[in-house]
Amino acid sequence: MREHNPGATVTVQDQGTVRIIRMNRPDKKNALTQPMYAAMTCALREAGTDPVIRCIMLAGAPQAFCAGSDIGDFQKRADGGLEPVTVDFLHALARNEKPLVAAVNGVAVGIGTTMLLHCDHVVAASGASFATPFLKLGLIPEAASSLLAPLRLGYARAFSLLVMGRPMTAVEAKEAGLVNAVVDAAAVEATALEAAQEIAALPPHAVKLARKLMRGQYEGVAERIEIEAAHFKELLKSDAAKAAFAAFFTRKK
Ligand code: COA
Repeated sequence: MREHNPGATVTVQDQGTVRIIRMNRPDKKNALTQPMYAAMTCALREAGTDPVIRCIMLAGAPQAFCAGSDIGDFQKRADGGLEPVTVDFLHALARNEKPLVAAVNGVAVGIGTTMLLHCDHVVAASGASFATPFLKLGLIPEAASSLLAPLRLGYARAFSLLVMGRPMTAVEAKEAGLVNAVVDAAAVEATALEAAQEIAALPPHAVKLARKLMRGQYEGVAERIEIEAAHFKELLKSDAAKAAFAAFFTRKK
């Protein structure tokens, strides 16, 4: 096992042929900051060129897979303060040619859910939840989810999730085709790693080809990422979004 950066907010660990990219900011439910996006982009791109790595596993913390983008970063972006490295991450995710497995424990919110649409195999804890409250924040869906979610879940479920912001339980996510397996929380990572190793043991070139054929062209996804990002950027500046971000930080717990 090779651990690259223990203790960082994104850690990278290579277990034989499987690279585990872990979001590691548990005190903030793994809300993704701009440096975390940059670290994940880097880890994905490096995995892409490392001949040893045959599968990538995305993981989080016991209470949270990922609570979405950091809303404080959204506020800074609304004021023009930060570079949108998120879009780089989305392209790295969509362009990545190695199979992606996800181990979801706890909450998966916003991009925590939409990144799963780019994954090939998702294992979830029975208590995991999936939500994309974009519209409630005055925003629109990202990560090409406006394209991928209707394809994967069907339009009705995609609308309920992405537009109405209704959360899904792990069982509902499995019924919808977002999740492959629902297991006890304690078994999520081992089950996901087993699946990753199973995929990694297959002939890599054939896996790459099959995956590419099944997923269709990257260009359509890339174009949708850009279109969504342009709207998203404008909406971040809207009064509705600013009010929603402020309300999040002043909410009563
Ligand atoms: N951005 C910034 N901080 C976040 C965050 C986010 N997306 N999600 C959680 N946090 C922070 C909280 O502010 C809190 O910080 P504090 O302890 O300094 O007050 C900490 O993480 C723990 O969150 P908390 O809300 O207390 O945990 P919870 O278990 O009650 O709820 C969530 C978890 C994920 C349901 C809730 O935090 C939430 O709704 N987060 C926002 C999700 C979101 O809208 N993301 C953007 C989607 S586009």
